[in-house]
Formats: sequence, C-alpha cells, structure tokens
Amino acid sequence: MGFITSAALAETGYVVLDDHDQAADPAEWLDLEYVGWRSSGITRFAPLASYAGEIDCNGFWNHTPPRTDKDGVWVESQIAIAPTLQRRALEPGAGVGRCRVIELQPNEYADAIYNLHQDDNNRLNDEGSGWVVRGFFNLSDDVESMLILRSDRFEPASEIRLPLRAGSRIVVDTQRFWHAVWHRGAAPRYALITSWTSGPELDAYIAAHHGDPHPPTAGIDPQIVDAAQIELHRRIEERRLAFEALGTVMEPRPDLSI
Ligand SMILES: [Fe+2]
Repeated sequence: MGFITSAALAETGYVVLDDHDQAADPAEWLDLEYVGWRSSGITRFAPLASYAGEIDCNGFWNHTPPRTDKDGVWVESQIAIAPTLQRRALEPGAGVGRCRVIELQPNEYADAIYNLHQDDNNRLNDEGSGWVVRGFFNLSDDVESMLILRSDRFEPASEIRLPLRAGSRIVVDTQRFWHAVWHRGAAPRYALITSWTSGPELDAYIAAHHGDPHPPTAGIDPQIVDAAQIELHRRIEERRLAFEALGTVMEPRPDLSI
C-alpha cells in the first residue's frame, strides 16, 4: 500500500523554502527549559511537543503504549514561553509529532561527519497514512554553518550542504538521509525541529513558500573532507573496540537518532 508522501520531496528528498523573517520574531528560544539527551554530550533540547506533554525528548515508540512520531502533545510550560515557535510549527497545518528547539554547540566538520545518522520517525507508522518528515527552522544566524545530508553515510560525493542563516527553512526526509550539522559559530546554534506528517497540507505549505529541491549547496575544502573520512573510520573503529571490550555491539549509534 505504501505511505502518503510529499510530492515536493519526491525528486531529491529535501527542499529549502523562502527565508522566514526571523528578525521580526522575539528570541523566545532563549527562555525555554532545555534538557540533555543520553550520551549526545553537550547538545540539549527544549521539547515543545512530546509523547505526553512532559519535558521529554524520547522517541514516542519508547513509551507505553508506543506510537509513531505523530500526535505530539504540547508542553504547556514551554508554549507559554514560546507561542511564536508553536505557531510556526503549526503553520503548515500538517500533523505534528515531536517538536523541539535544539541547542548545538560549535563543532568541527569531522564531528558532524561522525554524528551523521538517520532518524527513526516512521517506526510503527501505519502504511496508508502520512510519512513523517522533519522541518528545520534556523533561529540563530549561523551563516557559516550547514546542515549536511548524505544519501550514503560513507560517500562524500553524495553530500549536500545547506547553509543555516537565521530564518532558513528546510524540510527533509530525515529517515532517508544521513544528516548532521557542522556548526562553525562561536555561540550555540538554535533551531526549531518539527516532525510533520506528509500530506496535502504540507505540500501546500511547501508550494506557498517556493520549496526548492535544488538549492545552492555550500563548498568546502576537499582536504577537510578527506581528513574527516579518515577520522570517521578511526572513531568508528575506536568505538567498536571500546564496546567490544564491554561485550556490546553499539553501531550504529542509537543515541543520535533523535
Ligand atoms: Fe536527526
């Protein structure tokens, strides 16, 4: 039967919309409550919608009863602080699953490549219903930073790099792409990440904001890419050996699939 998918994402799997006028909005994200997530280190999240309306980052399938990444419950204490962010998540009119602001500290390109992961948004999703994709709205102005997408985790030639200026809006099938952010700023990066259910509402929103399936991709020094590939394999092996010593297999990294 298959899933209901977005026609706008059919060609490349991602689109960049017209920029939002971020400067006109209050910086609500600075006042939200943030929590850490497992072993992803210093990255923190401010949940706006969660499984049961708690300050909780966990996948909906890890709760009882489990469900797919749909029907998120708004966190009252958070949306009282950030009504503009809630309104933006609701603007497409598509169903919302998890919705949260990410706080990402500056990192290196090699870190981003090591952090590449696929999301698990559609675990327990029912065929015949809408495929869950993700919206990324950059809140801080990170003109040197980029969302990295790879269709093949280990293949730099498959890499797309989308700049993250304030107000940038990207919709991605994050279960299809390996993805992570290279954040080159000096201060944390903030972005609103929303799980949307594909369907005519999301398609209309993407069309209204001129979703581009072939946006400009940033260039970077090939030597940086080559060095990161070596570092990627070194870190994977290092991690494999560490977990092997504990009698555990820990690859791929479940801590990143958030
Ligand atoms: Fe992700």
